[in-house]
Amino acid sequence: MVRIAVVEGDGIGHEVIPVARSVLGAVRPDFEFFDVEVGYGRWERTGSACDSGTIADLRSADAILFGAVTTPPDPGYRSVVLQIRHDLDLYANIRPVRGEGFNIVIVRENTEGLYSGIEWRESDRACTLRVISEKGSRRIARCACTLARQRRHLTIGNKANVLKSDVLFVDICRQEAERAGVPYETRYIDALCLDILMHPDRYDVIVTTNIFGDILSDTAGYLAGGLGMLPSANIGDRYAFFEPVHGSAPDIAGQNIANPIAAIRSGVMLLRHFDDTGNAAAVEEAVGKTLAKGIRTPDLGGTTGTREFGEAVLRELSHGTKT
Ligand code: NAD
Ligand code: IPM
Ligand code: MN
Repeated sequence: MVRIAVVEGDGIGHEVIPVARSVLGAVRPDFEFFDVEVGYGRWERTGSACDSGTIADLRSADAILFGAVTTPPDPGYRSVVLQIRHDLDLYANIRPVRGEGFNIVIVRENTEGLYSGIEWRESDRACTLRVISEKGSRRIARCACTLARQRRHLTIGNKANVLKSDVLFVDICRQEAERAGVPYETRYIDALCLDILMHPDRYDVIVTTNIFGDILSDTAGYLAGGLGMLPSANIGDRYAFFEPVHGSAPDIAGQNIANPIAAIRSGVMLLRHFDDTGNAAAVEEAVGKTLAKGIRTPDLGGTTGTREFGEAVLRELSHGTKT
């Protein structure tokens, strides 16, 4: 048995994750799913969004499938997803963006940078410390270079013209690219956000620091049809956590209109993590065939509901196994 922790979280997490879970269950009867509750809803009900017992439950799983959590901009509330990434040391956030004529993987550093958590309030200002360490940069650079070696080249997204912390980040990434024999280029992140939209075919693996990767991946979502399409994997040396790039989308939650493709594709990344390329390809193909029939959720111009889209994917999968 492979034990998968399932965290729906908040908002549309309750709608898209059940779809992804049923798709995974259909191809992998050996997956044993167990639910873990975290998030704002739990905090409102119990006063705790996530505690050490929750983290222990997540650590006990072979992999984690996660929806999204609501994080209010309240100084007294800490984002659960950031807590989990930190506690499980999930340092590599892998965010593929694919479409016709382009195949990009954003490799986002996931534990430091502007998300260091070192923040304080002074009388008339609030400060957040941007921490770029040699160790943190080296491990994400190695991860990106391993990917780039199997592909084409590496782009190092940075703002080293302004931020001294990015001079260190770029230096370490260059060292690792040279060591791995990976062709690389550096690009300033602001220009990169535009160029990825204008010339997506020019990019392959892009490594960047935490918040730049956050912004670049939502930007790149435009290329793939929106946030409803983008999956991600948060990987460390011991744990693996799969989640859509999007959030809890309170504006559409509870209406059965959220696009579950990002969540299903996060499940595909989970399958590939277990080297199950056959089922991963079968699920991808089933999603592609469903879309090709014009079955789409409203964000893609269709009228199909979240659950009904999931049912259509399951039907495609069952056809696939019969032939
Ligand atoms: P969001 O990603 O939740 O939504 C942005 C826009 O995209 C919204 O209009 C939403 O309706 C749309 N959208 C997102 N996912 C969609 C889907 N699957 N199908 C169709 N439309 C979709 O970002 P936001 O509105 O900035 O944030 C909402 C909450 O989610 C905030 O509390 C934020 O902190 C949180 N958030 C959590 C995560 C996470 O848990 N990993 C990620 C991002 C944002
Ligand atoms: C993401 C989200 C998170 C982030 C938030 C919700 C903490 O935007 O996963 O992209 O900023 O990393
Ligand atoms: Mn984000």
